[in-house]
Amino acid sequence: MSGSFTRYTDDLPGDPVSPWLASTLEGCYPRLEGGVSADVCIVGAGIVGLSTAIECLERGLTVVVLERDRVGSGTTGKSAGVLTSQHGLCYAHLERQFGSEAARTYGTLAEDAIDTVETRLESLSIDAGFERQPAYCYGDDPNPFRRELEAARTTGLPASLVRSVPPFERAGAAIRFDEQGVFHPQQYLLGLAETLHDDERAAVYEQSRVTAVHPGKRPRVETDNGSISADHVVLATGFPLLDRAGYTTRLYPRRSLVLGVRLDGDPPKGTYYRHDNGRFVRTHRDSEGPLVLVGGERHKTGQGGSIADRYRRLERWTRTHLPLEWIAFRWSAQDYVSVDRLPFIGPVGPATPNVHVATGFGGWGLTMGTVAGRLLARSFSDERPSELELFDPTRFTPIASAPKAAAENADAASQFATDWLRTLLERDERPIRPGEGRIRRQGISPVAVARDDVGELHTVSGRCPHCHALLAWNDAECSWDCPCHGSRFTPDGTVIEGPAGTDLPPRSLE
Ligand SMILES: Cc1cc2nc3c(=O)[nH]c(=O)nc-3n(C[C@H](O)[C@H](O)[C@H](O)COP(=O)(O)OP(=O)(O)OC[C@H]3O[C@@H](n4cnc5c(N)ncnc54)[C@H](O)[C@@H]3O)c2cc1C
Ligand code: FES
Repeated sequence: MSGSFTRYTDDLPGDPVSPWLASTLEGCYPRLEGGVSADVCIVGAGIVGLSTAIECLERGLTVVVLERDRVGSGTTGKSAGVLTSQHGLCYAHLERQFGSEAARTYGTLAEDAIDTVETRLESLSIDAGFERQPAYCYGDDPNPFRRELEAARTTGLPASLVRSVPPFERAGAAIRFDEQGVFHPQQYLLGLAETLHDDERAAVYEQSRVTAVHPGKRPRVETDNGSISADHVVLATGFPLLDRAGYTTRLYPRRSLVLGVRLDGDPPKGTYYRHDNGRFVRTHRDSEGPLVLVGGERHKTGQGGSIADRYRRLERWTRTHLPLEWIAFRWSAQDYVSVDRLPFIGPVGPATPNVHVATGFGGWGLTMGTVAGRLLARSFSDERPSELELFDPTRFTPIASAPKAAAENADAASQFATDWLRTLLERDERPIRPGEGRIRRQGISPVAVARDDVGELHTVSGRCPHCHALLAWNDAECSWDCPCHGSRFTPDGTVIEGPAGTDLPPRSLE
């Protein structure tokens, strides 16, 4: 990008980066050049990709990991670093929609994932500050918590009902899970990447964006500079690169904002999650002492107005509920939610048995991504884990999916239609100030126009290359965000994240 976009966002406090990425060195792995062959090719070096890779290596398989950017640069390196089997109020839902056996399987796998990460950190001597802490989920109405307790206990989880939590916000009810985990997610990923890199049966390539996936008996994956053929391909990219089972109607992107703050007083002990709005609080310790992470302002990517205002709201909430001294970090990230609230883990479509996906974690991918890695690696070693049936990406669950699918698809369709109509019918002639972006119309083509700090205009297509939705300006991160499936682009059109396979082409504006 030629010009910078700092002036506008400078009025928001905190360094615009997660403490995990700020406190670690970038990886230094090469770009893929030429043709390579492996048992398993994994696309994406987040928790799913690297967990799968290490599990495959442990089973004697050869592995190649391809990462578009840097290890951990996706959602994992911007997560809150909480490893828990308490995924909001999920067990009563799982029991009701999928049966008690399904709830038990989910809970057992999630608890095992915490142990897996703890053991792996120890065996690979990775210092990621892992600690066991209680996790609280809280809210106002006690009834759903009673139901959740019953379901969680039936599932065998370490749950109890508590009153008077959290210490910083009034709550009518809460459920506590003991012995949950917190860690530095980026240290974990960098440790896994190093272990893979040091083993001759594995390789990690960065700056290697996958541009095409060719399924078949022996699938092939292409990047700009090379290709890989493998017995199995895993798309560990969040939204799958290959849509062979209608993921655009069954997965939706959800973004959250986080502040990393220093307090004048004692930090909260434990992790806290408010079940109705997704607000969370948890304490991490770095070289300067306790750093409290406050997250929330959950919204669908590209929708719901000013992101800068959302950061201000989160700051106001923090000032009201905690003895805030100063804000050290601010950042945001997105995860994908499936319409029936269960992740998709397994073959990406019914006719593509060798290309796999793991996504739809709904904000809980540190545990469920670890679960995905183990289940996929076991299936590649011919173990056929029965648990995979629950997460089958091609499953048909009309009762559990219908309300959310109808709401999300209607929302995507209406957003699509309203944005296009507004752009075609109304001419937006308001001036564009530094740090602002607007969709302008050139004939019938939408042009995304953003003005940088020095006043220069950046003009690219305003239409998302994925499924042609109109983009929306993110005034805090200075990016163009797609309201349909969450692709995001820089003002100069480069893909930042999401399912779009190509950048936005440049456009000129008369
Ligand atoms: C604010 C926030 C806080 C969260 N906190 C928690 C938490 O505390 N605990 C928890 O359990 N979960 C948490 N989550 C959810 C969790 O972070 C995610 O579910 C998880 O990180 C997803 O991991 P992943 O490996 O699927 O994706 P990612 O970490 O996003 O990795 C995908 C990788 O694929 C790469 N990629 C994409 N396309 C290509 C391509 N074409 N070619 C090559 N590479 C490509 C990307 O660059 C990226 O590095 C949080 C989510 C958010 C938004
Ligand atoms: S990400 Fe699907 S239309 Fe933009």
